Amino acid sequence: MTLWQMFVSYSLLVAAILSLITYWITKKFVLRKMNRTIMKAEHNYQQQIASLQMQLSGKVNALEGMVNKLRLSNQELTRLNEIRSKFMSIVAHDLRQPLSSIQGFASFLMMDAPQGGDNNDQVALNNILKATDNMNMLMTDLMDISMIESGRFKMDGQPFNFNALLNDVITLQAVNAQKKGIFLQKYEYPSEVIVMADRFRISQVINNLIGNAIKFAPQGGRVEARFYVENGVLTCKISDNGPGILHTEKEKIFLKFHQADTDRNLKKQGWGLGLSIAQEIVNAHGGDIGVESAGLGQGATFWFTLPQQPVKEAAAAA
Ligand SMILES: Nc1ncnc2c1ncn2[C@@H]1O[C@H](COP(=O)(O)OP(=O)(O)OP(=O)(O)O)[C@@H](O)[C@H]1O
Ligand SMILES: [Mg+2]
Repeated sequence: MTLWQMFVSYSLLVAAILSLITYWITKKFVLRKMNRTIMKAEHNYQQQIASLQMQLSGKVNALEGMVNKLRLSNQELTRLNEIRSKFMSIVAHDLRQPLSSIQGFASFLMMDAPQGGDNNDQVALNNILKATDNMNMLMTDLMDISMIESGRFKMDGQPFNFNALLNDVITLQAVNAQKKGIFLQKYEYPSEVIVMADRFRISQVINNLIGNAIKFAPQGGRVEARFYVENGVLTCKISDNGPGILHTEKEKIFLKFHQADTDRNLKKQGWGLGLSIAQEIVNAHGGDIGVESAGLGQGATFWFTLPQQPVKEAAAAA
């Protein structure tokens, strides 16, 4: 063995011994310390996880309790709603009978009462008739709402002349318009339009829209009614120069019993039911209803659509 070979072997031996010593020291001190730190951290995490799990299960229990309470109050609400709906329909139905008797007797006495504008009997009987008329309208609305809520509000589609219907409603409302000196105008559509819909219900919608327009337009104001057909969809518009509708109220006024913050006297002349019933009727025909208004004091245009294909759109007779 040469001197060089002996030197290399010796160096390798020293290196191996040094590596072994380093490995032993590392294992003995550093690795053990690391292991201890890891175990401690693991223990801490496990404790934290256990406490979080406990908190979570507490929250889950509380949540389950809340869900149960909510379910119970929901059941109670549904029950109360059913009772309310039933009560409303019974009240509306049972009050009609005595109401029509009062109306009948008042009309009968009216015929016998001495004539003359300032006659006390006539004034009193007139007031009774007006009050019973108002109550009758409320009964009708309440019956409709109760039918809507119980799902018994059905439409009976028959073909009818839309133009003639609008004329009928305008003739009926002309008396109210005249009392306020309102100019009630109808724009003619150049052809006869026959639609397939529930004539009575659609007349209810138009009556409420024109009635509202007359009610809210100022003394001596203007109310306009028009309709047109475009791509098989009929659109009817009723405009007035009344107080208009605030942007924030445009959807709310279609909710049951909602009345915008307008004149208190005008509010008293209704119950905030007409538009919600109108919306129900129009939607049941597959149409839409809405309002356009530039804001307070700017008047309003209420519109609704009947998307059914008009049965016939013939040229108007001369
Ligand atoms: N043409 C209009 N101009 C201004 N506000 C209107 C007009 N039409 C309706 N409104 C507002 O919308 C509200 C709801 O109308 P809706 O027809 O539902 O009820 P109402 O006329 O007050 O009572 P009801 O129709 O039950 O007799 C009205 O109270 C009013 O505040
Ligand atoms: Mg109304």
